[in-house]
Amino acid sequence: VPEAGAYERIAGEYYDDFHRTSRNFDSATAAGLRELAIEIPDGLVLEAGSGRGRCQEYLRLPPARVVQLDNSPAMLSLDGREPALLRVLHDAVELPFPDDEFGCVLAFLCDAFLGLNFLAEAQRVLQPGGLLLGTTPSFEWGVSLREHLKIDRMTTRFRLRAGGELVMPSSLFDAAQLASMLEVTGFARDSISVRSHRLPVDVAEVSPDIAEAAEKRGVSSFELDIIYSFAATA
Ligand SMILES: C[S@@+](CC[C@H](N)C(=O)[O-])C[C@H]1O[C@@H](n2cnc3c(N)ncnc32)[C@H](O)[C@@H]1O
Repeated sequence: VPEAGAYERIAGEYYDDFHRTSRNFDSATAAGLRELAIEIPDGLVLEAGSGRGRCQEYLRLPPARVVQLDNSPAMLSLDGREPALLRVLHDAVELPFPDDEFGCVLAFLCDAFLGLNFLAEAQRVLQPGGLLLGTTPSFEWGVSLREHLKIDRMTTRFRLRAGGELVMPSSLFDAAQLASMLEVTGFARDSISVRSHRLPVDVAEVSPDIAEAAEKRGVSSFELDIIYSFAATA
């Protein structure tokens, strides 16, 4: 059994409304994916860093096609999770699957493991023509907030319900960096897209961590790009 990942300690409360920044990211992700209306290719789908799973909620994918993978046992056994064909406890930067296994790899809010290793592994397990689709917090949001909080750019901080904080790894790349990382890990150059998404204007409760970053940049919370989506074909 691999060592449990960093989210193990927050799994029990990660999906609570208390974690408003994450909920605002979810709203921006849902709206962004609706707007993009990306077609998901046929075949098995790997949801990397699945948490309790978002494939049905965001993309209406049938559970029988979805393999959920996460390195936190607690995340993989949360109540209220989306059903799936299989749940796999493993690190996403080294995928326990053969080459060309999946029609699609999804990774929502994957900043904890986003990097060349994960992208190369996603490329390897995708069939030729298969799709990688992911989301991650934007550089514009992350840099502004992390400078304000005086924490390392490559970490994020979660306030815990019971008090105290967790500081965890969280990669920030700008859109051009992300596109070139997709290219060097073998995705088809013409297929690569990185898009920015904002908080939908009907969201009533804005996280102070989003409001703070927006203020630093002189825009409203609804004018700040808070999430990137990236898509590329293997
Ligand atoms: C921010 S949460 C997002 C969960 C889910 N994708 C969602 O959008 O609701 C990040 C998830 O990635 C998982 N994770 C973090 N590092 C990982 C790694 N190296 N390998 C696999 N999963 C990882 C965490 O346990 C957590 O479930």
